[in-house]
Amino acid sequence: MFSSRLILPLIASLISGREVNIIHLSTQCPTCAECGFNYVVGSPDDEASHDRLHAEYQYGPEIAALEQIPPFQTLGVLTLHLVDQAIPQAVRRNFYNVALVACREIGGPAGFDGTVNEEEQRLFVAAEGRRAVGMVLTAADDRFWPLAWKSDGSMELRGKMPSTHRGQKIARAWIAAEYRRRGLVFSMVRATIRLFACNSIDLGWELPFTESGARLVRRISPDVFWGCRDPFTLNEALHPRPPGKDT
Ligand SMILES: CC(C)(COP(=O)(O)OP(=O)(O)OC[C@H]1O[C@@H](n2cnc3c(N)ncnc32)[C@H](O)[C@@H]1OP(=O)(O)O)[C@@H](O)C(=O)NCCC(=O)NCCS
Ligand SMILES: [Zn+2]
Repeated sequence: MFSSRLILPLIASLISGREVNIIHLSTQCPTCAECGFNYVVGSPDDEASHDRLHAEYQYGPEIAALEQIPPFQTLGVLTLHLVDQAIPQAVRRNFYNVALVACREIGGPAGFDGTVNEEEQRLFVAAEGRRAVGMVLTAADDRFWPLAWKSDGSMELRGKMPSTHRGQKIARAWIAAEYRRRGLVFSMVRATIRLFACNSIDLGWELPFTESGARLVRRISPDVFWGCRDPFTLNEALHPRPPGKDT
């Protein structure tokens, strides 16, 4: 039986004639299939929040603190900034919002809140003026699973035990929708590799991957690569459930 909280937003969206890309009705509120925001269609407050957050997904959130971190590189009109432990925590915390925009779209935890932890996190931010249009989050890890790409695009494990060396991984990557498909994340990962003075093959990649994330890892490491996370997540990534089998 559908509850009125499910039906009313749907009716409101049909009446208003507004094009809303709803991906499911199994929860109380529909989710925008692009930015990932969960909201009540037809509620003026929720609609206004969605408009604001969708614009952040499209063009990147505005972060005034970008002006306090001089760029270490330029990419055409864009600037690249490094938010690491050398930046005061009060400044670093302002960058939480870009991680939030990314996590709304990708799902899972934001992974970055500006505080210092044992993972030595570094946030690489691409900006156009005061807008953060892309981010690559790196962190240290000590569990690296040897993985290889199969010809069908799935992954296989190349050893039963992970390597426990301490190394760097790419934990998250996100580019604002308007800035995708122009090689930006690729340039950002290359800048990261240069900064760590390592080879791309030495970097770990945090599991699980989105479809576009998997294509990125495969472009950078077409054969073998290191995957990071716990055995349960590894197993899920190796044996993804068919669509529609959530439980
Ligand atoms: C995954 C993601 C970070 C890629 O960022 P991006 O800057 O668009 O990546 P690139 O431009 O380097 O490559 C994206 C595609 O554009 C293509 N491309 C790159 N430069 C291009 C150009 N100048 N013209 C046309 N296509 C181009 C690439 O070949 C790639 O194609 P493919 O996906 O079919 O392999 C971005 O899609 C994103 O933020 N997705 C949502 C978050 C997410 O899924 N993150 C990964 C978590 S694991
Ligand atoms: Zn949206």
